[in-house]
Formats: sequence, C-alpha cells, structure tokens
Amino acid sequence: MAIYNQVLIIYGSETGNTERAAEIMAHALNRQDGIQAETIAAGDLRVEEKLKSAKAVLMGASTWDHGLPQDDFKVFMEDVDPALISPLDVGVFGFGDPEGFPEAFCGATDVIRTWLSEKGATVVGDNLRLGGDADDLRQDLETFALKFVGIATDLDPEHVIN
Ligand SMILES: Cc1cc2nc3c(=O)[nH]c(=O)nc-3n(C[C@H](O)[C@H](O)[C@H](O)COP(=O)(O)O)c2cc1C
Repeated sequence: MAIYNQVLIIYGSETGNTERAAEIMAHALNRQDGIQAETIAAGDLRVEEKLKSAKAVLMGASTWDHGLPQDDFKVFMEDVDPALISPLDVGVFGFGDPEGFPEAFCGATDVIRTWLSEKGATVVGDNLRLGGDADDLRQDLETFALKFVGIATDLDPEHVIN
C-alpha cells in the first residue's frame, strides 16, 4: 500500500535532463494502482495553484554555477508563498556532473533541502544525486519514486519465491 495517492513532481531543468527524470518518475508512479503523478516545471505559472492541493511532492533541479539550483528553480524558491511549502512532504532529487564539478556535485539538492527545512516542510529520505543521462538512470529514478510513496523496491527479484 502506498502512503500517498497523489504526487506532484516539480523540476528545474536547463537542457532537459531533470525534466526527463521527472517524466520517468511520474510514469513509474502512474503505473501503480491508485497513484496519480504529474510533473510541472518550476517556472510554470500554475505551480502555486498545483501546490495548493498537494501533500506529497518530489522536487528536483540540476546544479549550475558551482552548486546552485537551476535558474527557474531558484526563482521558484524565492517567489513561492512559504505557506504552500510548510505542509508538504518532499523528496529531493537532482542532476549534476561529478567529474566536472566534484566540489559542487549536485549542490542544488543540499540548497533545496536546507530551504525546505527552513520553510517547515518535512523532507523525506535522502537526496537522490545523479550524474549522467536520465534515461540511463531509469532504475535509480524509479526506485527513488516508489520508495518515496512507500512501495518496497529493495526485494531482489532473484530472491522472490513465486
Ligand atoms: C556551465 C555549467 C555549469 C555546471 N555546474 C555544475 C555544478 O556546479 N555542479 C554539478 O554537479 N553539475 C554542474 N553542471 C552539470 C549539469 O548540472 C548537468 O549537465 C545536468 O545533467 C543538467 O541537467 P538539466 O538538463 O536538467 O539542466 C554544470 C554544467 C554546465 C554546462
């Protein structure tokens, strides 16, 4: 049984990688009975409206400028009504480049996590920090999304007796 039946996925993405990750996670969640997931860009004008009816949210951004969230996500953090953030349960994910920016790899996830805590949101689980192409990391993304909603994914299929 999942803990949540609706999940909103808010993403900040410059070149489409984090956007693709959000789509992969939404797809995995929508395949589960009784769960509805939808994605929305952090820069979309409807994001506050969506947040008004949200409880469970995944937030993700790529990292730029030596450790900062992607621009649209940064603006979202600055502009969103904090009263919409405090009641949320949030899982945080992000994309970066561990070789190019080892000192600031996925720094955006730390910035987002700290901001969420300051606004009074409940941050669920560890940050998911990924480097590479979202499509190559499908399994990590799906596992993260399913764990967030409380669906166990750590059973090794080889050890499951049918
Ligand atoms: C100019 C530039 C700066 C970047 N800065 C960082 C950084 O500070 N830390 C990091 O982990 N990745 C950094 N990256 C890598 C991007 O976050 C990574 O390519 C990511 O997959 C982009 O995702 P997006 O398409 O969703 O924006 C940088 C990339 C570029 C081109």
